[in-house]
Formats: sequence, structure tokens, C-alpha cells
Amino acid sequence: MTQAHVSVQTQDSAQARHNASATIAISLTVNGRAVSAVVEPRTLLVQFLREALDLTGTHVGCDTSQCGACVVHLDGEAVKSCTTLAVQADGRAVTTIEGLAQGTTLHPMQEAFREHHGLQCGFCTPGMIMSAVDLVARFGPGLDEPTIRDNLDGNLCRCTGYHNIVRAITAGAQAMGAPRDLAAE
Ligand code: FES
Ligand code: FES
Repeated sequence: MTQAHVSVQTQDSAQARHNASATIAISLTVNGRAVSAVVEPRTLLVQFLREALDLTGTHVGCDTSQCGACVVHLDGEAVKSCTTLAVQADGRAVTTIEGLAQGTTLHPMQEAFREHHGLQCGFCTPGMIMSAVDLVARFGPGLDEPTIRDNLDGNLCRCTGYHNIVRAITAGAQAMGAPRDLAAE
């Protein structure tokens, strides 16, 4: 059981100091591991993952729910962790990009991104892959290009032009076969 404490102060008002002094105990599962922690009510899930658990594969590109670099799974569904509070994950299961591979064996979607050159700088890639796995869970392995493009509008990439990302997701979906039960991860 991991104990973690997150304390991030961003305001200087009396109210902010009062809020910062209030903490909440949470217990959750992260990548299959039980975690208990004490956090401030305002702690974002992405802060908690990166700063308390050192899971820095989840990126922050905008902090305003636009870029998708921060996507993780909460009870098997893709969420933007920059606009999800850590306390909202209490009692639930979180999967990050670090939780997809099985040991040294990449997840089929990770392997498809590697094989089809679905990344350049890689900054968007963790969020892209987490969203892609969620797409397969929702639409099945026969994803077509329009469905991928329509449903990937919450993930931005500044490098690739998206063509290879779409190819990678198409191939990754086929490799995944039947939709996985992500809630069981
Ligand atoms: S950092 Fe969350 S959407 Fe950009
Ligand atoms: S690969 Fe650079 S932002 Fe997508």
C-alpha cells in the first residue's frame, strides 16, 4: 500500500490557505496497485499521478481540457486527468500509459504506434494511445477512419498531421481483436 501526500499551493488568499489546510484521504487502484493518499480537495488527478506517484507518462499540454495529452482511464473510460480531481478517483481504478504494457511486451496499440510511425516528438502519444484503446472498447476492433477521426477530436498532435496516427489506431484495433474489459484492468 503506497502512502502519498500532495500539497500544491497556487493562491495566496485567506480562503486559499484555509482550503489548502483541508485534506481528504483517498484510496484507489492505479495500474492494478492499491494506493492510499491524503490530498487537498483541489488536487488534480494529473498532479496526483505525476507528482505523488511519479507516473510521468501522463503529460500536461494545456491544462484546459483541449489537448488530450493527459488522458487516462478511470474505471475503464477515457478521462482528461487535467480536469478531473484526485478525489473523484477515490474508490475507483485508474489506468495510465504505464499500465498498458505487460512487462516488456507492449500493448497491441503501443506496438501499432511504433510499427506505423504514429508519433514524432511523442508528447501527445500517451494520451493518443489511451484514447485509442478507449475507442476500441467503445466501437470494437473494426474501427474505420471516419470513426477514428471523429472521436479523436479531443486529442491534438502538433507533429504528425494525424495520418500515421489513424493508420496506427486502425492496425492497433485489429490487433486487439475483441474489445477488452477495461474496467477489469
Ligand atoms: S493537459 Fe489535459 S487536455 Fe491538455
Ligand atoms: S508526436 Fe509530437 S505532438 Fe504528437
